[in-house]
Amino acid sequence: MTSFPQGFLWGGATAANQIEGAYNEGGKGLSIQDVMPGGAIKPSTQGPTDDNLKLKAIDFYNNYVEDIALFAEMGFKTFRFSIAWSRIFPNGDEQEPNEEGLAFYDRVLDELEKHGIEPLVTLSHYETPLGLARQYGGWRSRELIDFFAHYARTVFNRYKGRIRYWLTFNEINAVLAMPFTAGGIEVPRSELSESELYQAVHHELVASALATKIAHEIDPQNQIGCMIIAVPRYGITPDPRDQLTAQQKSHEDYAFGDIHVRGEYPGYLLREFREKGITIDITDEDREILKNTVDFVSFSYYMSVCEAHDPENYTTGGGNIIGGVVNPTLEASEWGWQVDPIGLRIVLNNYWERWQKPLFIVENGLGAKDVLIDGPSGPTVNDDYRIKYLNDHLVQVGEAIEDGVELLGYTTWGPIDLVSASTAQMSKRYGFIYVDRNDDGSGTLKRYKKKSFDWYREVIATNGESLEA
Ligand code: BG6
Repeated sequence: MTSFPQGFLWGGATAANQIEGAYNEGGKGLSIQDVMPGGAIKPSTQGPTDDNLKLKAIDFYNNYVEDIALFAEMGFKTFRFSIAWSRIFPNGDEQEPNEEGLAFYDRVLDELEKHGIEPLVTLSHYETPLGLARQYGGWRSRELIDFFAHYARTVFNRYKGRIRYWLTFNEINAVLAMPFTAGGIEVPRSELSESELYQAVHHELVASALATKIAHEIDPQNQIGCMIIAVPRYGITPDPRDQLTAQQKSHEDYAFGDIHVRGEYPGYLLREFREKGITIDITDEDREILKNTVDFVSFSYYMSVCEAHDPENYTTGGGNIIGGVVNPTLEASEWGWQVDPIGLRIVLNNYWERWQKPLFIVENGLGAKDVLIDGPSGPTVNDDYRIKYLNDHLVQVGEAIEDGVELLGYTTWGPIDLVSASTAQMSKRYGFIYVDRNDDGSGTLKRYKKKSFDWYREVIATNGESLEA
């Protein structure tokens, strides 16, 4: 395949809470992840507990030099990571930032610059400071908009000229399904009204637009993207009612891109608010702020689902928290995520046609159980299944570029094994680099190259020509 443009940003993506560890070092405060030992859908604990793998994660905090060198060996052009908000503002509401936290990311940037790797940085990746969750009720509180803006301004100023590509909120559409993980709201989903959820989402949307405004004021070179979960929804049959259900479910994702790109709430969402009696407080000032639209649209892509107007007649649960009904034409991963490379081409075309903004695939990959074996030059993993998954998706990315889609880059999720967000397991691995750590917390934390390491290096070196259609 030769369709990938020159300068295409190949790389990998991570999040602070899933790699850094050092949860209480360097002046860091607690984040919501430090009290979530069981993953995104399990209840939280009062404080950090020993069974929480994220407290140590893969200790990127102390291994970043070695890890970035391995990314450079694969030829990464970009590396996506998040800044842990509670490293910079330990409780979230301070005026003065924590210098030690800022200095850590300076050192990470030094390493990336040494290797010519472009940083791609998420401001908030499922790691709201716990203080903001417990003292303010998380994103239900309007006060978080100003705390977030202060945090964003602090890091935009500090890293001016060093970081050009920024993402505001990871998977911002996840608040509706996972209020604690994505919104710092420690109330079970079932006890929250739709109005409360949408109010929290609204605060994040305003905060995102405000950060975009500040970023552009501080440095017009800054490129700001929104970040959404992309899940194509197919009608399970040609029955127009199934197709309509699929379209309406798609609006749950589209709404977030529409607001970020067009600067206002779409009509279909306002209709839903009216019909369901959802009332949220949107001020005139909010409306003005929302007009600060993004420079590009980024998204994660793992799976597709089907939708039916009569889901009770089908097997449901094909897409984990996403819901939907199972697509009988697709295989699923060990965690039930339906593998659909062509769906990625569909998403890319749909998004490009809808928004005409450059796109960035900032997560894609296969979570799988790996077995470490002895190889000619040390322990390794024969992860042909991962190579196949990534190859097949990238072939479809190439097709979409041929279709005319403008795509800035592609970062695989978890280029180095990390702690899973949904299940908090180590054994759900995505990496090209194996990390010796187990679900019970045992392991040496040593890094080993998997077979896919050399495969990805070749893909990058040939700018996609080595992919097999
Ligand atoms: C995305 C998140 O939803 O999917 C990541 O942005 C997460 O944080 C990734 O890790 C894969 O999900 P999981 O549950 O397999 O870790």
